[in-house]
Amino acid sequence: MAEAGDKEQQVADLAERASVCVACDLHESRTNVVFGEGNPNSPLVLVGEGPGETEDRTGRPFVGRAGKLLDECLRECGILRKHVFVTNVVRCRPTLEEGGRLKNRPPRTDEANTCISLWLEPTLTVIDPLVILCLGAPAANTIIKKGFKMMQERGQFFESKYARYAIAALHPAYILRQQGEAYDEARASLVQDIEAARKKVIEAKKEPPRTLF
Ligand code: URA
Repeated sequence: MAEAGDKEQQVADLAERASVCVACDLHESRTNVVFGEGNPNSPLVLVGEGPGETEDRTGRPFVGRAGKLLDECLRECGILRKHVFVTNVVRCRPTLEEGGRLKNRPPRTDEANTCISLWLEPTLTVIDPLVILCLGAPAANTIIKKGFKMMQERGQFFESKYARYAIAALHPAYILRQQGEAYDEARASLVQDIEAARKKVIEAKKEPPRTLF
């Protein structure tokens, strides 16, 4: 298991290598690689789907409208970005052209698989979090299980090969597309799932370690 200072260095090394990645087609249209950021020593990691326009421009995860909503909900649970590590299934923005404009699209399976094996898995191996909070179905399909049913299974804890516990919540971008009561309910569910993840970290810290050495 990596020591605290080691984790920072190892994650920084991975980020530097990822910054010149050309392993899939997404590198052709990206402005910046969005590796992920936050505290690599945190017991809690958040995994989203992939960068959008603002993330591509800035190189930072969850800094657009969905990121602002995520920050608000985290703050309601007493969590700041510096307390957690935030990353995505893919590190470059998947786009499609529509009416002369670039729009976001979900990552293709081959793009996701490449990015998972090259960058997400090694990052999670270094950080070795107690709890992963998956934001949206692509993250839940990657971290928890294929065919994850968000509406039925969000808010429950699962085992994961990447963390002792994993839980999924509605993606903030999905929540932003809801209106009225549906928006309020979806937002409340995100706060509830973040709070559940926070409490699970506290519980898991009291459990005996699962490795002998
Ligand atoms: N949506 C995501 O899934 N990730 C980001 O970094 C931003 C928006």
